[in-house]
Amino acid sequence: MEKKTTTKKADSKSTGTKTSTSGKAKSVKTDNKKSASAKKGKLKDEDESSLKDFLCEELKDIYYAENAILKGLTKMKDGATSDKLKKAIELHYNQTEVQISRLEEAFKLLDKKPVKKKCEAIVGILKEGDEVLKDTEKGTFTRDVAIIIASQKVEHYEIATYGSLAELARTIDREDVAKLLESTLAEEKDTDVSLTELATDKINEGAAKEPAE
Ligand SMILES: [Fe+2]
Ligand SMILES: [Fe+2]
Repeated sequence: MEKKTTTKKADSKSTGTKTSTSGKAKSVKTDNKKSASAKKGKLKDEDESSLKDFLCEELKDIYYAENAILKGLTKMKDGATSDKLKKAIELHYNQTEVQISRLEEAFKLLDKKPVKKKCEAIVGILKEGDEVLKDTEKGTFTRDVAIIIASQKVEHYEIATYGSLAELARTIDREDVAKLLESTLAEEKDTDVSLTELATDKINEGAAKEPAE
């Protein structure tokens, strides 16, 4: 509820704010009157604060998501077959703990309290992860393939989010916050690449040799 109100507010004041999965944020479009009175390359205070509010709301969303992911990673690690996949998930669990601290630091820099707001997208993606664990047999490569696919869906969601939010932070001249978000973005991208490498190294091949039930 809270998000809808704030989002609407942000939209009405700065229509056209766009972020993309590639992390490129477009500048905020304001009407001609506002643009004329704004300093070149700078946003008006009014727009800055509505965009800052929007950024804070989105940070609450990803703060919820990261905490939920932490629980999801534990289940995935316990369910994985190969030691390499277990180790990769464990490494990312540790990174996720640090990512949560970075978000808390970002809230602090923005003079906000770290608050979680339910992120329906991650709830759905993690639910799918639970389902693949139920649908595949423990101790098989097929189970690992399913875990890798489910985990990469999580990583892609995070990459889209952190890329967009880092650009949003930069748009409102918060380089300090942008840097924190970009540190996490780099880890999410590395994790995605590592998961692909694990899949193409042996796991996919091993799963292909497993008989159908
Ligand atoms: Fe993360
Ligand atoms: Fe991640």
